[in-house]
Amino acid sequence: MDSTLKGLFEGLEFQAEPAGLYDPLRYMMSIGGKRIRPRLCLLAFSLFDEVADERILEPAAGLEIFHAFTLLHDDIMDKSDTRRGHETVWKRWDVNTAILSGDVMSIESFRRMAAAPREVLPLVLSVFTKTAAQVCDGQQMDMDFETRERVPMAEYMEMIGLKTAVLLACSAKIGALIGGASSFEAQALYDYGYDLGLAFQIADDYLDVYADPAVFGKPVGGDIRNNKKSWMLLRAFGKAADRGALEAAMRIGDPQAKYDAVRGIYDALGIAGDARAEIARYTEKALSHVKELDREGALARFAQSLVGRVK
Ligand code: IPE
Ligand code: IPE
Ligand code: MG
Ligand code: MG
Ligand code: MG
Repeated sequence: MDSTLKGLFEGLEFQAEPAGLYDPLRYMMSIGGKRIRPRLCLLAFSLFDEVADERILEPAAGLEIFHAFTLLHDDIMDKSDTRRGHETVWKRWDVNTAILSGDVMSIESFRRMAAAPREVLPLVLSVFTKTAAQVCDGQQMDMDFETRERVPMAEYMEMIGLKTAVLLACSAKIGALIGGASSFEAQALYDYGYDLGLAFQIADDYLDVYADPAVFGKPVGGDIRNNKKSWMLLRAFGKAADRGALEAAMRIGDPQAKYDAVRGIYDALGIAGDARAEIARYTEKALSHVKELDREGALARFAQSLVGRVK
């Protein structure tokens, strides 16, 4: 699987000109990333079919290109300077470049998705287009929440379901469909990917506070700076006896002082341990959907590899 993925991404080719449009795309694809969405797609495929050829490789690449497009735009929205340990596209070039290169990546992802085998193409395009729109819905909710005083945990879960979990779910389902899974099996893989995606985003929120910046590859503390209604913040509001202290910390103007104060409150409340427990809970839930399918334990191993992630 590792060598298949490596070969796939090394072999990707994109149009040369105009360089201003395609260089940022090549840059984004070359600076790495964990590639968990194509990995999950190939893994789901491998439960049903043995020969990973173009039928699955083009759509798998499409999933990663789509994901990378969302990151280009997300980094503008979140005013984020670093990604995968490198400068973000809008920082290295400019905002307009990141918008248009992102647009063309989105289109490129659909082009590759359309290479799915004819028998399953309508199903594949249906889940992919629905997912692509849902990611936008989730990103809009994420931004709306920045200026809202109170966000219930249930609304947060809906938001991360849309911005993050549906793409993992879709990746698993597309792999299953192209592999020849039944609709029941494809749905089980979707549910697995969805709950794993929830765990993955809670882990991302946790890492945004506690990761080692050298390993994380993204700025630590960005969520606190942007007033994101992260899992950490909502849990802290739910748990704090003195909500006023947390509100006051969130109003601090200096970014470093704000981060230190909010993190101090998280530390005192034990929010990190709560996040780890919640990540484990959703990972278990993910596996409950595929108990019967996971004969070799590959889905369990994949899920476990995400739980311990440090970036
Ligand atoms: C980042 O995704 C955005 C989220 C949904 C949390 P990844 O953590 O998969 O980012 P890369 O692709 O490995 O850089
Ligand atoms: C991003 O969530 C989800 C999408 C890109 C759709 P975040 O904003 O938390 O992702 P990072 O932390 O910048 O990777
Ligand atoms: Mg964001
Ligand atoms: Mg972001
Ligand atoms: Mg994040």
